[in-house]
Amino acid sequence: MANAMIGRTPPQTRKSRAVYHFTPETPQDYWEVEALYDTCFAPGREALSSYRLRDGIPSVLGLSHVARDEAGILGGAIRYWPVRIGAAQALLLGPVAVHPTRQGEGLGRALIEESLRHAAPLGWDRVMLVGDAPYYGRFGFRRLDEVVMPPPTNPERVLGRDLLPGAWNGIRGKVERWSD
Ligand SMILES: CC(C)(COP(=O)(O)OP(=O)(O)OC[C@H]1O[C@@H](n2cnc3c(N)ncnc32)[C@H](O)[C@@H]1OP(=O)(O)O)[C@@H](O)C(=O)NCCC(=O)NCCS
Repeated sequence: MANAMIGRTPPQTRKSRAVYHFTPETPQDYWEVEALYDTCFAPGREALSSYRLRDGIPSVLGLSHVARDEAGILGGAIRYWPVRIGAAQALLLGPVAVHPTRQGEGLGRALIEESLRHAAPLGWDRVMLVGDAPYYGRFGFRRLDEVVMPPPTNPERVLGRDLLPGAWNGIRGKVERWSD
């Protein structure tokens, strides 16, 4: 997805006509992405149980992306981690965030859809996340009734999407750290 470009849609909701360049996150992007997440999420975001699945484990090479405008200003970012549910492997999507001044312009959608386009070719069958069903339902995410995130997590926010047809069928149990 390096240097992919998107326009803002639909026109009537555009705040500007910026074009974004999507590139895989590099070590040079790391602290800028952290600062963006600090801006976009409530203080203490790292206390969330999903972070226990990420601690000390590198995000997935080639899938975590940044979106910069033509001036190089960071507009949004998305990261992915590997997790396990029993013997099954899954992607954990998130955090995804768009700078408050760039929200509502389609950048969140573009980050999710463009990055996920690369997931199956990289060998991933399924993706999950903890998030708002009304938002992620737009991208085909549905509640995973039998998949359990570390507590405290509201089960209604545990969502998944197949990257290969039927990939979540029969997957049940606790979500665990990749290295466990
Ligand atoms: C969630 C987020 C990434 C969406 O990015 P974005 O660029 O604003 O999203 P898009 O422009 O693609 O989509 C905007 C639409 O999603 C809706 N939306 C945004 N967040 C939503 C939510 N939490 N629940 C339901 N709908 C939501 C908007 O109302 C808007 O609806 P519309 O198309 O009907 O006008 C961004 O708002 C953000 O960074 N929020 C703070 C961090 C966060 O909550 N991250 C997600 C963790 S679950």
